[in-house]
Amino acid sequence: MQSITEIKSLRSQIKAWRQAGLNIALVPTMGNLHQGHFSLVEKAKNLADKVVVSIFVNPMQFGENEDLDNYPRSLNEDKQGLAELNTDIVFTPSVDTIYPNGLGEQSYVDVPGVSMGYCGGSRPGHFRGVATVVTKLFNLVQPDFACFGEKDFQQLQVIKTMTRDLSIPVEIIGVATCREVSGLAMSSRNGYLTDQQKDTAKALFATLKNLATQLQQGARDFEILTNEAKQQLEKAGLIPDYLTIAERSTLKPATLNDSHLVILAAAYLGSVRLIDNLQVDLT
Ligand code: PAJ
Repeated sequence: MQSITEIKSLRSQIKAWRQAGLNIALVPTMGNLHQGHFSLVEKAKNLADKVVVSIFVNPMQFGENEDLDNYPRSLNEDKQGLAELNTDIVFTPSVDTIYPNGLGEQSYVDVPGVSMGYCGGSRPGHFRGVATVVTKLFNLVQPDFACFGEKDFQQLQVIKTMTRDLSIPVEIIGVATCREVSGLAMSSRNGYLTDQQKDTAKALFATLKNLATQLQQGARDFEILTNEAKQQLEKAGLIPDYLTIAERSTLKPATLNDSHLVILAAAYLGSVRLIDNLQVDLT
């Protein structure tokens, strides 16, 4: 596995692969890798000849009072895990490499519509930061495929929409959420939780599953259903941020005409913000 930090070396390796007729898959990450990230790398390995994994804790997508400085970093272990999966390149640029002129006058990419509400509402500027850094990574790596987790469902839809709207020649691949045995979605931020909090946190997915079952059994009063689900979260010790039944690709609140739905939720456990989602198909 090649470990690359500079754009020039990255571009020259990409060029050589292209000249050899090889195709490339990109997996963008912020590091502190777990099985969820590794499942994206495995998917990428199945799709393309060469796999590039980027590890970059992107300051542009963190709000002022968020955990940028404390974001968990474990570069050595991450590299070891990626090498075991036969990753071809791990790209770990510095902040100066990605943003040489600082963030003040950085050009950016905004994706209206799907970026609004949910995590975009609670974290203003977050998806602008995500869309901008992912655009830069696409331009640096020029991948044929890029893999993103369904765990961050709104992020996946933002990237799909951006790629389509801006005619970026990359196929976006969504990968199913990896979960602990308890159902808790794996996340780098789970490391902030105590064992007891992890036990409480499993209520998030349990609540989504319960709501999905009710939908599948014919319940259709979305407002009552989501209010009950929020109460269920509170009872378990979580503080709901949002919990909505949405149409799956536009992420607009679901109507009775929609059949491809996703339940999107975020909740606080102490200072840790957990997100999860569950897709539901109505027949
Ligand atoms: P990060 O949180 O490190 O996640 C990197 C990728 O791993 C994302 O596509 C995310 O959805 C996926 N992922 C995380 N947990 C997962 C799980 N339990 N199962 C499956 N996939 C999972 O998301 C980001 O970084 C950043 O916003 C990024 C896209 C890299 C832009 O900076």
